[in-house]
Amino acid sequence: MRTKIVAGNWKMHKNAEETEDLINQLIELVPSESTTRIIVAPTFTNLASAVDHLEFINIDVAAQNMHQAEGGAYTGEISASMLQSIGVNTVILGHSERRAMFHETDSIIADKVSTAMKHEMEVIFCFGEELKDRQDHNYKNIVEHQLRDGLFHLEASDFARIILAYEPVWAIGTGETASPEQVQEMHAFIREVIRQKYGRDVAENLAILYGGSVKPDNAEELFGKEDVDGGLIGGAALDAKSFAAIVAAAK
Ligand code: 13P
Repeated sequence: MRTKIVAGNWKMHKNAEETEDLINQLIELVPSESTTRIIVAPTFTNLASAVDHLEFINIDVAAQNMHQAEGGAYTGEISASMLQSIGVNTVILGHSERRAMFHETDSIIADKVSTAMKHEMEVIFCFGEELKDRQDHNYKNIVEHQLRDGLFHLEASDFARIILAYEPVWAIGTGETASPEQVQEMHAFIREVIRQKYGRDVAENLAILYGGSVKPDNAEELFGKEDVDGGLIGGAALDAKSFAAIVAAAK
């Protein structure tokens, strides 16, 4: 049985005080005995305080990005060892906003994944097709390429530290959720692509999250699908009550 995971990607929201408020509310609202793994990803400036506040709570902290280099003249960037030095061992890589707005290619993302693996960090690897790919019925091809180019340089053993997050770009922040059937179809396909390359054990143990307009009222149906192991939540993760309700839906 795969553990369900609900992760909140807070994107460029919440200053220091607001982050602390949200964390305190989550500590109140999220049951400490929850069997669902819970992850939150605040902005870089709030990671250290999030780690401090959540040290003894069953909520893990992830970064939203990092640079692939070990260090050096990369103004404005953050390295894997910097994250680890403040107790952050999970990182979101390949988010569609980074691909589209910050020109991160599959090859850059593959390098970031390699760096994370070298540091024994855990990666939430995001990918997903654009609306045009879906309309052209090309969505499976696109997703297979993103998986191949971003991850297929890894060893099977690396997948113990990989979480996949399928996030169709057309469903992110639009209020338009992919239907549970569309999500299940894609997740089953993703698991099959992984199985063909890495075998049954890796595929069966791999968590595949769905992201894109997940809300308290659609989470249960989405998470109830066989190959959906939880969600990566944007907008609805910024409100403690709605995030806690989504966590509760991931039974
Ligand atoms: P929304 O839940 O706001 O659609 O965002 C999803 C997302 O991008 C999570 O990484």
